[in-house]
Amino acid sequence: MKALTKDLLESLSNKYGTSFYILDSDVFEENCRNLAEAFKKYYPLYNIAYSYKTNYTPKLVKIVDRLGGYAEVVSDMEAKIALKSGVKYEHIIWNGPVKNKEMVKEVLLNGGTVNIDSYSEFKYIKELASDNPKTTLNVGVRCNYEVGDSVISRFGIDVDSDEFDKILKEIAETNNMKLAELQAHFAKRSPEYWTKRTEGMLKVYEHVKTKFGIAPERVDLGGGIFGAMPESLRTQLGVAPVCFDDYASRSARLFAEYFKDTQDAPILMLEPGTAVAASCMRYVCCIETIKDVRGKAIASANGSQKNISMSGINPPMEIISCSKSRKYYDAIDIAGYTCIESDYLYKDYQGELGVGDYAVFSNCGSYSVVMKPPFIFTNVPVVDISGSEAELIKRAETFDDLFITYNF
Ligand SMILES: Cc1ncc(COP(=O)(O)O)c(C=O)c1O
Repeated sequence: MKALTKDLLESLSNKYGTSFYILDSDVFEENCRNLAEAFKKYYPLYNIAYSYKTNYTPKLVKIVDRLGGYAEVVSDMEAKIALKSGVKYEHIIWNGPVKNKEMVKEVLLNGGTVNIDSYSEFKYIKELASDNPKTTLNVGVRCNYEVGDSVISRFGIDVDSDEFDKILKEIAETNNMKLAELQAHFAKRSPEYWTKRTEGMLKVYEHVKTKFGIAPERVDLGGGIFGAMPESLRTQLGVAPVCFDDYASRSARLFAEYFKDTQDAPILMLEPGTAVAASCMRYVCCIETIKDVRGKAIASANGSQKNISMSGINPPMEIISCSKSRKYYDAIDIAGYTCIESDYLYKDYQGELGVGDYAVFSNCGSYSVVMKPPFIFTNVPVVDISGSEAELIKRAETFDDLFITYNF
């Protein structure tokens, strides 16, 4: 991660204003490589379909494409981001419970994969297959099974249901349908669920192969992997120290064992989002006011908690001093610009602080820039500092960007 010196911060703010996201795209690439290394150590047939929803910044999705990875999309909007970024249809995997039918048709007829989430979706795809007998459609099935995480996931098809068997049987019997993948994703990121996640998938693979005589070319275990994080964030999240090997040893190792004598063994696919994106972005905002309310010191910044986290857990903060007049505080809260009472970026900061200081939040790359609502302020620019010159990745949003859709 490139260091953010006071000089660099001031030169960026002279150009882009006093609040912006700082991207370090080298960190993103390094995370992709580290994840690959951890999994390939056990099972070389590995690839990723990067989860666009986590952070669909074109610069990042192009890195994944350059590294040979796929795009994991969940909407026609995201499929279009992939295509506009130069990703080939064949490298698109489309998940999600609700899909735009026209775009499903376009993706399937051009070689992309659509993961079926319900029988009604399958029926539509089957009609497409019979209307286009000369085209082979790549389908996947999102598998829903127990992994011991105390959640009954609403996604995918229950692998023990008649419906699951019915879909697989019909795929096997349809000449121009190919089972491209079996896929699952479970949201909880603790490695402890990964053994069951993997064993469950291998059981489904076996069932599909023996009962229907078809085997997918990819087995996709989804995302839900923690990335590198500082100790303070880990403590806040209440998780034990975790690294990529904790996931690989519970999945890729089992794949290596299971497929050791299998010809045409499948590719182990992952759909990482947070694992590769979280640590590649920081968020910068500036302290605008400081006041005392009935004995409580409160600073207000020109940034919001909505800029950095959807979970309410705020990542670590560093103050970079640029203020001419600073004061020491035992416990000062740093509040956001919105009118939401609970909009705090940091609670009980201890140290010197003054108006004009910058607050820099690390680990802001996942579900941040894509989830910032247009509430009160438009969003700030994104600047990549990985190269020798800072590169503007996304300019500041303007009034017109948002209000063009309204009739005044
Ligand atoms: C289907 C699917 N794959 C991958 C991901 C990425 O998850 P994470 O950010 O935990 O890696 C998600 C996140 O919701 C998802 O729904």
